[in-house]
Amino acid sequence: MKAKGIKQYLDYVSKAGDRFDIFDKITEQYAIKRALYPGSYVHITPSLIIPEVYYVDTDKKAIRFFREKNEIIEFIETSKIYSENSRIQFESIDYWQELSIPPQYVDLLISQFAGFVSKACQKYLKIGGILLAYDSHGDATMAHSDDHFELIGILKYVKGKYQIESNKLESYFKQRNGKQVNMEKVQKTMKGPKYSLAADYYIFRKVKD
Ligand SMILES: C[S@@+](CC[C@H](N)C(=O)[O-])C[C@H]1O[C@@H](n2cnc3c(N)ncnc32)[C@H](O)[C@@H]1O
Repeated sequence: MKAKGIKQYLDYVSKAGDRFDIFDKITEQYAIKRALYPGSYVHITPSLIIPEVYYVDTDKKAIRFFREKNEIIEFIETSKIYSENSRIQFESIDYWQELSIPPQYVDLLISQFAGFVSKACQKYLKIGGILLAYDSHGDATMAHSDDHFELIGILKYVKGKYQIESNKLESYFKQRNGKQVNMEKVQKTMKGPKYSLAADYYIFRKVKD
């Protein structure tokens, strides 16, 4: 039988990882209260740490999952680490389309394994807000090439814990062959190139609209 309700989330994170530590670290460092997670699927871990999270996905299983909002809220309320009531919203829309939140609404934009979120959804991020990007689909590379964002740190797994590092940032996004990154190729293949120094997660600040 297919997993339903919160079991669907628990089954998912047992394989994909809940990544609680990552959101915990980022939220602690940058005082985040509101986040946008385009291409979230059923990954509601951010709501355990961040009081208001806006999820977006077009996947049928994600749409079915978020219909059980009461069960999701009940789970979050019993597992969250903040004192405010949790607020979640889900929108089943292609994230390249107009979302129903206002521009510059969130403190954190989450981009994990879901395409070029930094490009499509940057307008919803406040100036000074944080983009957390993984590079498997090339989105960290995309953000690095975008002058709306400044690389301010990376997350590194050291001795069983994630640490934010902000030194030697100029050493990231350098190809081994010394060539410039071919952004057309990144866009076409939706894959980040191999770099001589790579991080687990990249942290950018939005510097302008
Ligand atoms: C590989 S899953 C990753 C899920 C989650 N981000 C994680 O890291 O566990 C990618 C998700 O992004 C969604 N997605 C990709 N492109 C999208 C788009 N343009 N609009 C909405 N959802 C999208 C897919 O439907 C899928 O559920």
